[in-house]
Amino acid sequence: MLGLTTSTAPSWAANAIRNLDALLIDHAHCEMKAASNALSLVGRYPNEMDLVWQLTLLAQEELDHFKRVVEVLKTKGLKLGIPPVDAYAAHLRTAAGTLPARHRERFVLVDRLLVGALIEARSCERFKLLLDVLPNSAPELVPFYQELFACEAKHFRTYLDLAILAAREDGAEVPERLEQLAKMEGKIVTSLDGTAAVHG
Ligand SMILES: [Fe+2]
Ligand SMILES: [Fe+2]
Repeated sequence: MLGLTTSTAPSWAANAIRNLDALLIDHAHCEMKAASNALSLVGRYPNEMDLVWQLTLLAQEELDHFKRVVEVLKTKGLKLGIPPVDAYAAHLRTAAGTLPARHRERFVLVDRLLVGALIEARSCERFKLLLDVLPNSAPELVPFYQELFACEAKHFRTYLDLAILAAREDGAEVPERLEQLAKMEGKIVTSLDGTAAVHG
């Protein structure tokens, strides 16, 4: 699905629904990080105007998602709290640094965009799994997660398209590079401890 090479274990959704409050808190942090990561790329590559525009739109959507998850937290009387260490994203960035590159500087950006694409893909996959179990336990959240499922799939495509653009004449290498990184992402995500987290 969406470039992922490894599917989430079926037990993930049952665990997530049993710990729905923890999942919602983790999800809120994920949305905030998605917005800030997109804006940090805008700040780092201010002359790449396609990137600036597309990631500004994306950050705006992620901030809206964050606000709406925070609304859910408030309704449930939950605190956002301090985020746990994001081992998933850290390992994924480290893994991206091990990919070979002929044009190291160019591929630093390509790989950051591919990391973004895979994070979006994994969120999307997990929201789909959540949608299989939400109707029985929290039906009021179903429309929200249906919308997020579609939106994170779109964000995957935005990051992938920007990666191809950033690779310039090496754009044809991007799909294979995505697959290499996706294989490493699969190992990372299955090695995490299975807590109720969007990427754990
Ligand atoms: Fe989002
Ligand atoms: Fe997203």
